[in-house]
Amino acid sequence: MREFETILVTGGAGFIGSNLVRYLLGPSGFQGKVVNLDALTYAGNLESLADVAERFGGSRYFFERVDIRDATAVNGVFERHLPDAVIHLAAESHVDRSIIGPRDFLETNILGTFTILEAARAAWNKRSDVLFHHVSTDEVYGSLGETGNFTEMTPYDPRSPYSASKAASDHLVSAYSHTYGLPSTISNCSNNYGPFQFPEKLVPLMIMNMLEGKSLPVYGDGRNVRDWLYVEDHASAIWLVVKSGALGEKYNVGGDSEWENIRLLRELMAAVSRRTGRDARDYERLITYVKDRPGHDRRYSIDCSKIKRELGWSPSVSFAQGLERTVDWYIGNPGWIERVRSGAYRQWIEKNYGSRG
Ligand code: NAD
Ligand code: TYD
Repeated sequence: MREFETILVTGGAGFIGSNLVRYLLGPSGFQGKVVNLDALTYAGNLESLADVAERFGGSRYFFERVDIRDATAVNGVFERHLPDAVIHLAAESHVDRSIIGPRDFLETNILGTFTILEAARAAWNKRSDVLFHHVSTDEVYGSLGETGNFTEMTPYDPRSPYSASKAASDHLVSAYSHTYGLPSTISNCSNNYGPFQFPEKLVPLMIMNMLEGKSLPVYGDGRNVRDWLYVEDHASAIWLVVKSGALGEKYNVGGDSEWENIRLLRELMAAVSRRTGRDARDYERLITYVKDRPGHDRRYSIDCSKIKRELGWSPSVSFAQGLERTVDWYIGNPGWIERVRSGAYRQWIEKNYGSRG
């Protein structure tokens, strides 16, 4: 089992990053320091870590506002904090945005990953007691028909600018492992949901629109399938790979919880109506089938038997529990939602979609 003193988390102010930082400084049992490197784009919000900063700020938690494309600034973070592990999450993460504006995705996800890899390679100079863990997605494997699933051996077949940029970043990490001997691991996870997710992604967008009586935009026929994992279970998987994953290996992570979008939406309507006391039929009326996403991947299904078998990981939160917790969190945190939705996001969504969001 590997031990580390200082973990640099990139993208720690985002959805998964903030949940991961909280997990590292709490349930993981890790005793060292966490440095959160984040540019604070529209998707990054330090308020998501206010409790962590209050409890651990200046002792075990540090924040650096840095863009991963800025090599000088990234090198500076390595010099100041001397991390012996990197968990790399910083990325542009929303498929719809990647369709409308792919450039940021290529620049951050590909060139930004390259910049972080170069900084780690220079700072670590062939050390073997270090680790670069790259957080990636099952979307790199492409789209499935009615049957089959993705294993770690499935050839990459990315089909959106987002997944293509993530695939490129995975390949760069593998290349640094093979070419320069950089100790590294990669995890490819399915769709996450839970607290602190920016309300542009399916689950929080639908919860918010239900609460606000807005239409629920279902793309295409609503029968695209995704596998869903509660975000804390993703954090525990990442931590296990960081501690014990075999160097140079990839691990698939998923919830064994596949849902057609329309069926997931009905589960969500039931969970929201249990909390609000409103009849689920009031929400049913809000469903609006809209034009499909271009190149919309039909089905994702992930075989995560490797991480279960080799590292003993399993998800601890059922889909029903996870949805209840998520709905509770969004109902209980209107201030967070209001603040993340104002400003850059509002302007972007209105420019590209009108006032639907
Ligand atoms: P997110 O959009 O919520 O957060 C991304 C974070 O990265 C934000 O805090 C943002 O400020 C930061 N960031 C963006 N560009 C940056 C830059 N140039 N420099 C520094 N920081 C920058 O994303 P998320 O959903 O938390 O996803 C995190 C990672 O996990 C991503 O790499 C994503 O590809 C991967 N992933 C996400 C999911 C999912 O379901 N959300 C599933 C599998 C893998
Ligand atoms: P999303 O949360 O954007 O994640 P991803 O595209 O990375 O899987 O979308 C999840 C699924 O929900 C996907 O099939 C697209 C669909 N979707 C809708 O039907 N309506 C929406 O408003 C959004 C945001 C997504």
